[in-house]
Amino acid sequence: MSELLVGQTLSFAGDPLREGPQVARHSARGAVLIEGGRIAAVGEADDLRRAHPQARVTDYGRGLISAGFVDAHVHYPQTAIIASWGKRLIDWLNGYTFPEEARFADRAYADEIAARHLDLTLANGTTTVCTYATIHPESVDAFFEAARARGLRAYAGKTCMDRNAPENLRDTPQSAYDDSKRLLHKWHGTGRLSYVITPRFSPTSTPEQLMMMGALWREHPDCLMQTHLSEQTDEVEWVRGLFPQSRDYLDTYETQGLLREGALFGHAIHLTDREIARIRETGAALIHCPTSNTFIGSGLFPTMAMAQAGIRVGLATDTGGGSSFSMLRTMAAAYEIGQLRGTPLHPAQLWWLATQGSARALRADHLIGNLAPGMEADLVVIDLASTPAIAQRAGRAEDIWEALFPTIMMGDDRAIADVRIAGRRARA
Ligand code: GUN
Ligand code: ZN
Repeated sequence: MSELLVGQTLSFAGDPLREGPQVARHSARGAVLIEGGRIAAVGEADDLRRAHPQARVTDYGRGLISAGFVDAHVHYPQTAIIASWGKRLIDWLNGYTFPEEARFADRAYADEIAARHLDLTLANGTTTVCTYATIHPESVDAFFEAARARGLRAYAGKTCMDRNAPENLRDTPQSAYDDSKRLLHKWHGTGRLSYVITPRFSPTSTPEQLMMMGALWREHPDCLMQTHLSEQTDEVEWVRGLFPQSRDYLDTYETQGLLREGALFGHAIHLTDREIARIRETGAALIHCPTSNTFIGSGLFPTMAMAQAGIRVGLATDTGGGSSFSMLRTMAAAYEIGQLRGTPLHPAQLWWLATQGSARALRADHLIGNLAPGMEADLVVIDLASTPAIAQRAGRAEDIWEALFPTIMMGDDRAIADVRIAGRRARA
């Protein structure tokens, strides 16, 4: 049985950061045909209705049909400590994050928070997340089981730490390798789930542990690898002291085989020219986490410069260092950071980052993050008049961008009119 979703549609024929906003495709009366959980056709509503008279029609009126949001860097175990006051990165980790992550030794608690996280992200129109779990292997099981129950395409890995963390949150190079490998074999490529090799960051991994992660990645090169890079200047200094032989922060990963396409580096704000050049050459991705970067006081990521240099950039909430589960709020923060850097991002560029850009960082842009035939039907429908303030501004819009931008800047979960996972209405 096929279904025809009718409404406004927004998709992309290219990368608007590199090629300009004109690569976006908007139809004021478009349609998306869904068959067997995939997008079978995208076009004008009248044309598709005529061509597919047997399809069941769902008409969203002025609602905007888009690919669902892809959140390329989150910590699902930090769901319950979002919006914790007053600390910068290292104190925030020690004071809030590590005590909370220790609770994930309890599988029932991990199940509860995994479910809560995915219900919140789905309610915000996010159809794929790439998450860190905790040190506990069961925290990966909890997340993947919750994602599988919802039919989601999802990415996760066991966070590995063997130093500079509380005793009960430390593994060893060998146990990190063994546990990660076992989880990888159990979950990677089962249904829509992918395992991600996950050393937390160089301050909490010895060179031996990073080396073991590099060895595991060489054995499973189709996996992604995620970690953090140059988020705060104090952290960069700390890394310099911990790795006196390294050329820079990136080098602590590079020398252990953790720099190539498929590497996801969260934050990456304070980079040297050498680091930027190596990231570009290797095809690794940088994940911009704007609400986190302002909330924890980390700095202003140069999205436009990195994208125009040819570096893959994804967008993410980084909950609970980030202050919102909403990719709309995240786009707003990316816009504001762009303004502070003198390079405001166009709404088409923001929307692309939250969908195709993040999917491309995850090397999944052929599957998710756009409206195109053959892609999985993970969709969001946006109400462009979800609050009185947004409605009155959008009401005088002269084009789709003016109509969409008030929702980007002021929207939240109230703007999410519908969510589809592989074509089916999401439960949340
Ligand atoms: N660096 C290492 N771990 C973390 C984390 O959990 N959150 C953020 N924002 N940065 C980190
Ligand atoms: Zn993070």
